Amino acid sequence: MNPAAGRAGRPTLAVVGATGAVGTVLLGILSEHADIWGEIRLIASPRSAGRKLAVRGEQVEVVALTEDAFDGVHLAVFDVPDEVSARWAPVAVGKGAVVIDNSGAFRMDPDVPLVVPEVNPHAARVRPRGIIANPNCTTLSMIVAIGALHAAFGLSELVVSSYQAVSGAGQAGIDALREQHARVAGTDLGTQPGDVRRAVGDTGPFPAPVALNVVPFAGSLTEDGWSSEELKVRNESRKILGLPHLKVSATCVRVPVVTTHSLAVHARFENEVTVAGAHEILAAAPGVVLCDDPAAGEYPTPADVVGTDPTWVGRVRRSLDDPCALELFVCGDNLRKGAALNAVQIAEAVAAELPS
Ligand SMILES: NC(=O)c1ccc[n+]([C@@H]2O[C@H](COP(=O)([O-])OP(=O)(O)OC[C@H]3O[C@@H](n4cnc5c(N)ncnc54)[C@H](OP(=O)(O)O)[C@@H]3O)[C@@H](O)[C@H]2O)c1
Repeated sequence: MNPAAGRAGRPTLAVVGATGAVGTVLLGILSEHADIWGEIRLIASPRSAGRKLAVRGEQVEVVALTEDAFDGVHLAVFDVPDEVSARWAPVAVGKGAVVIDNSGAFRMDPDVPLVVPEVNPHAARVRPRGIIANPNCTTLSMIVAIGALHAAFGLSELVVSSYQAVSGAGQAGIDALREQHARVAGTDLGTQPGDVRRAVGDTGPFPAPVALNVVPFAGSLTEDGWSSEELKVRNESRKILGLPHLKVSATCVRVPVVTTHSLAVHARFENEVTVAGAHEILAAAPGVVLCDDPAAGEYPTPADVVGTDPTWVGRVRRSLDDPCALELFVCGDNLRKGAALNAVQIAEAVAAELPS
């Protein structure tokens, strides 16, 4: 049977940025989930027009981003750079689509909800600009677990150190790490100041070599030495949790991992907490997997978590000097829950609201 025949009357979904790191994972997730969509239209830059990509087991041709590309589209997920979303998301809305935007263009706009379905699903229903924003991948990689703990214990402060994968910088980040690895593999580099830097040469989208290294900077430089990524963790956590005065300090670090962000989190609460109490909340929280048996060597690592949907939490400890605080290690696939999966969850919820 022609699959298109059974799809008549269902909503049309546009994926803008279908060829990128997030777009590629998104097409995979759409192919795995229940098929609720009519047409899935793939959109990218004119460079990619005419390419064919697989979704739902079919080859679909990519079209260039133009106003006409949104004809008949009910929902559009944008996985493109900020400036492209800023220009084109309102165009899609003007053509009648609800936009779910993965870029940073609208996240802090008071008229755009910033949504994590496990934490603040109700926010997606109020969208004065017709746009719903997806949080950034670092915030998203921890916020489902933190949201569950906040609901139980009342969060008052977060101190976060991230260990961010290179795919957070898109396909260019993945390509850069693979190329740098090729240059250092099988050598004895990493023993003299600057030897890795000289061997690597061009560091791609990163300010320093990422192979055999860690880089204490992600994003762009803002006021007083904070990186844009660090401010996103603060501002977006506050908005998602509805805690405008939450104390948040973040240090964002890039590590030589392809995909899956990790975060060491110090979370302080209004009241005293126990490890047993935190375990109980995390074990029951939708979208969270508790993996916390250090005696058995069980804690999440990016190499084990990559390609999975949940937020994984381990190393839960009560702070030695503060009975109201917990230390946690959290891992989440930055391309799945950190970007594409969260957007698909929102899109599926909005599609369910649409008149059939
Ligand atoms: N990577 C992550 O972990 C992550 C997580 C959360 C949010 N995000 C955000 O998601 C967005 C996409 O990130 P990514 O990592 O997937 O980036 P990417 O791998 O660089 O892909 C960028 C996509 O945007 C398209 N594009 C670029 N310029 C365009 C233009 N002028 N017109 C139309 N399409 C254009 C590209 O199409 P061509 O292939 O045709 O150039 C490609 O499909 C960014 O805003 C990013 O900040 C990323």
